[in-house]
Amino acid sequence: TGAFTYDPGFTSTASCESKLTYIDGDEGVLLHRGYPIGELAEHSSFMEVAYLLLNGELPSADELTRFDNTITRHTMVHEQLATFYRGFRRDAHPMAILCGVVGALSAFYHDSTDINDPHQRMIASHRLIAKMPTIAAMAYKYSVGQPFVYPRNDLGYTHNFLRMTFGVPAEEYQVDPAVVRALDRIFILHADHEQNASTSTVRLAGSSGANPFACIAAGIACLWGPAHGGANEAALNMLREIGRPERIPEYIARAKDKDDPFRLMGFGHRVYKNYDPRATVMQKTVREVFAALQVNDPMFDVALQLEEMALNDDYFIEKKLFPNVDFYSGVILSAIGFPTTMFTVLFALARTVGWVAQWNEMISDPAQKIGRPRQLYTGPVQRSYVPVEKR
Ligand code: CMC
Repeated sequence: TGAFTYDPGFTSTASCESKLTYIDGDEGVLLHRGYPIGELAEHSSFMEVAYLLLNGELPSADELTRFDNTITRHTMVHEQLATFYRGFRRDAHPMAILCGVVGALSAFYHDSTDINDPHQRMIASHRLIAKMPTIAAMAYKYSVGQPFVYPRNDLGYTHNFLRMTFGVPAEEYQVDPAVVRALDRIFILHADHEQNASTSTVRLAGSSGANPFACIAAGIACLWGPAHGGANEAALNMLREIGRPERIPEYIARAKDKDDPFRLMGFGHRVYKNYDPRATVMQKTVREVFAALQVNDPMFDVALQLEEMALNDDYFIEKKLFPNVDFYSGVILSAIGFPTTMFTVLFALARTVGWVAQWNEMISDPAQKIGRPRQLYTGPVQRSYVPVEKR
C-alpha cells in the first residue's frame, strides 16, 4: 500500500540531477556539458570528450597531454586476465565475454573498492576507459584464434584499439587515418546519452556502493539488449536480410503490423521525437569511410532508401520515428572490418566514458541514496499455507 506514482519504463520520472548531458528530444538537440554533439564530432577527439565528460571542461593542451598519458599508462591488463578468455567457447558472443571479463577486473584492483575517495574513483575510471579497448580487442582476437596484441603507448586511443584488433605480430599494422578518425568520431557519438537504460543500471548498481568494475559489467549486460545497444548489430542484420531495395516495402509493412513483433531496428527513440543528431553525423561518416576505403556497400543504399520510405510513411510520421544512432553505424563498422557481433562491444567501449562520468557524479552528489523503486502489488491477498497433501 502507499501512494506511489506508477511509471512503467520510467517515461516521466527523473532519477537524478546531472550536469553532463542535455537532450531536447523534440528539437533533436544533444549537448555534452553544453557543447553540441555535432561540433564535438567534427572538431574534437574521443579523449577530449572523455576528459570533458569526466571533468566538466574541455582540457587545455597540457591537460589533454597529461590525460592521454594517464590513459595510455593504464591500457595493459593483468596477464592472468587472458586465462578468463580461454574459459569461453571460441564462438561465444563477445558481449558475453565482455560482461565476464570486465566484472572480473573487480578481483584485480582492490584499491578501487574505496569509492568514497575521489582519487581512487578517478583511478578506477581511468583504468576502465584505458582497458576497454584492450579487453574488446582481446575478445575479437579470441574469436578468430589469433594471438592477443599488446597495446602500444605511442599510438592514440583509437589507433591503438584498431591495431590490437586487426594487427598481427607478423607485420606492421597499417591503417588509413580517415578510418581512425571515423571510428574516433563513432566513439564520440556513443560517449554518453544521459539516463538511458545501461547508464541507469550503472547508477543503480553503484548506488549500493558496489565495486566500480562490477557496476560497469552490469551496464554492459543491460546495453547488450536489442532495444538498446544491441540495435546496431540487429540493424545491420536487418539490412542484410532485406538485401535489396525492392524488398523494403514488405519490411515497412511488417513494422506497421500490430500483430507482427518486428520493428525497424535503428529506428525510433524514447527521447528523440525528431531526427537523432547522432544519426546525421553517422550518415555523413559513412560516405567519408567509403571514400577513404574505396568501397561501396549495397546495404548503405538499402538503408538510405529504407529511411526515405519510412520518413514519408504516415505510421512513422505519426509516431515520430526517425533513424537513431544505430541505423548507420553498422554500415561503417562493417566497412572497417568488424563482424556484427563486435558492434555492441564498440558501443560499450565508448559508453564506458559516460558510465564512469555518471557514476562519479552520482557518488559525489550529497543527495545520492540507494536506488530503490517501489511497486504496485497486484498479487493475491494474504492466505493460509495449505499442506501439500491437501492441495
Ligand atoms: N519500428 C516500428 N514501430 C516502432 C518502432 C520501430 N523501430 N519503434 C517504436 N515503434 C512504435 C511502437 O510499436 C509503438 O506503437 P504503439 O504506440 O502503437 O504501441 C510506438 O512506436 C512507441 O514505441 P514504444 O516501444 O512504446 O517506445 P519506447 O520509447 O518504449 O521505445 C525504442 C523506444 C528505441 C526501444 C523503440 O523505438 C525500438 O524498439 N526501436 C528499435 C530498436 C532500436 O533501434 N533501439 C536503439 C535505440 S538508440 C540507441 C540506444 O540508446 O541504445
